[in-house]
Amino acid sequence: MIKLHDKYFKPFVSAKEIDAALQRMANEIAADVGDEIPVFVGVLNGSFMVVSDFVKKYPKPCEVTFIKLASYEGVKSSDDIQRLIGLTQDLTGRTVIILEDIIDTGKTLAEIHRIFKNENVKALKIATLFYKPEAYKKDFKLHYIGIEIPNKFIVGYGLDYDGLGRDLPEVYQIKQTQHMTNLVLFGPPGAGKGTQAEFLKEKYNLVHISTGDVFRYNMKNDTALGMLAKSFIEKGQLVPDQVTIDMLNAEVEKNADANGFIFDGFPRTNAQAEALDKLMDSKDSQINAMIALEVDDEVLVKRLLERGKTSGRKDDADETVIRNRIKVYYDETAILKDYYAAQDKYFGVDGIGGIEEITERLSTVINKL
Ligand code: IMP
Ligand code: MG
Repeated sequence: MIKLHDKYFKPFVSAKEIDAALQRMANEIAADVGDEIPVFVGVLNGSFMVVSDFVKKYPKPCEVTFIKLASYEGVKSSDDIQRLIGLTQDLTGRTVIILEDIIDTGKTLAEIHRIFKNENVKALKIATLFYKPEAYKKDFKLHYIGIEIPNKFIVGYGLDYDGLGRDLPEVYQIKQTQHMTNLVLFGPPGAGKGTQAEFLKEKYNLVHISTGDVFRYNMKNDTALGMLAKSFIEKGQLVPDQVTIDMLNAEVEKNADANGFIFDGFPRTNAQAEALDKLMDSKDSQINAMIALEVDDEVLVKRLLERGKTSGRKDDADETVIRNRIKVYYDETAILKDYYAAQDKYFGVDGIGGIEEITERLSTVINKL
């Protein structure tokens, strides 16, 4: 991560990826222009690195020149673009290829088109290393595109944030720092995760996502996801990763403004933990802690059979199913302790005692995060 002025940026496109994109563009353009000698026109300031590296890769003779026109400050595309400086050469009858670092709204590009209208060029083609399709508001054709990127501010490789960052050999993306507290509540079935999550979400203003509850809701309403999940859950098995991850992604996106999340019943495998890290990372956030409720097996079985009498949950009614669920937990998911412990994010909490007492123990851990 790097800091420029007041903002943080994270690595986004490596020098190697930039190199490959430019190579591909150079080959494509060379093939298209045939025997002609094109004039490459870089748009300053941002494109100086693109042009320099591009023409070194261009396999045939070419001419290179620069123009300058954009006035661009801060992180938003400016409305008033200034006039052009630097077009001194006669371009009549020439194939001109504009080399841009980035095309955002397309305002700069509109200005370029307006200016070249009177130049009597044979062809005007547009090549850009970066392109933000979600931001682009014009209809001008973009003939060569290096890398399509989401509509987020980037720096490096010629691109700046208020003057800084142009010198970086790779590209960084702005980090929208979110101060979320995200917890994974962990523990065998019957450990009291659901009960405790209810208290914690109130206390810390978090959104509780219980994968089990979301699945049960879907099953009760016979959705496609519900029917799929049903076949696994009733046998005491885990629902396949991709189904769970897709659902979770949707739940997190539904609550994008949350103070944070309590994940309950997820992740259950290393693959899911990695997927969750990726998901959090894509939201510029992270898992802060895994908190595990520790409860003895026999206490669990007793608690679940008791709950089965009133909850109506089929998987709570049968002792064999219950024991299998506990076994699955220890076989496949206790591994995750190592995953989070390796990041110093694992906290074990004694799950036997009064509800309030346990909430108190959990709070002690959370307050220290
Ligand atoms: P457009 O006129 O909106 O297409 O924006 C083009 C110009 O805006 C570029 O030449 C850059 O100077 C600037 N720009 C747009 N997006 C970014 C970005 O993500 N980082 C840095 N500069 C940008
Ligand atoms: Mg530019």
